[in-house]
Amino acid sequence: MVKEFVEADNASVIIVDDEVIGAIQFDEEDDPMYRHAGIDVFITAPRHGQGLGSDAVRTLARCLIEDRGHHRLTIDPAADNEQAIRAYRRVGFREVGIMHEYERGPDGTWHDGLLMEMLAEDFIDE
Ligand SMILES: CC(C)(COP(=O)(O)OP(=O)(O)OC[C@H]1O[C@@H](n2cnc3c(N)ncnc32)[C@H](O)[C@@H]1OP(=O)(O)O)[C@@H](O)C(=O)NCCC(=O)NCCS
Repeated sequence: MVKEFVEADNASVIIVDDEVIGAIQFDEEDDPMYRHAGIDVFITAPRHGQGLGSDAVRTLARCLIEDRGHHRLTIDPAADNEQAIRAYRRVGFREVGIMHEYERGPDGTWHDGLLMEMLAEDFIDE
């Protein structure tokens, strides 16, 4: 469904039907003792709930596991972001735990994050 990633500095815009509908990026921990990659994704609101977020995360996860050799991936939505949590579960991520007052919101107050992780063997590659 997600047609193309235009890559730059570990980040890509997400293009569907010639329209930019979001962006996705990853960062890598390269210390061999702790090697893993983290994913961050954004889809424009009118395109939420159409399977595009999970599809984009699945596509990048496949690249990180198969091409870049990662055995473990993380993603950290806001703890109350049920839509994101459901989207990431569909790819194989599972909840690790709450990170208290992890992220500052637009109003300047801290809010909780949810650490999710996925091992390569748990990847749901549809
Ligand atoms: C999080 C985000 C990337 C998910 O992308 P998406 O394209 O909307 O996700 P999908 O359509 O693949 O999956 C959404 C899931 O949430 C469900 N959902 C939709 N609206 C929902 C709502 N209001 N509350 C709870 N669940 C909802 C869908 O049914 C689907 O779950 P299911 O497959 O089990 O039925 C997107 O919502 C987004 O960009 N949000 C703003 C930025 C953000 O929060 N980024 C996360 C940073 S980690």
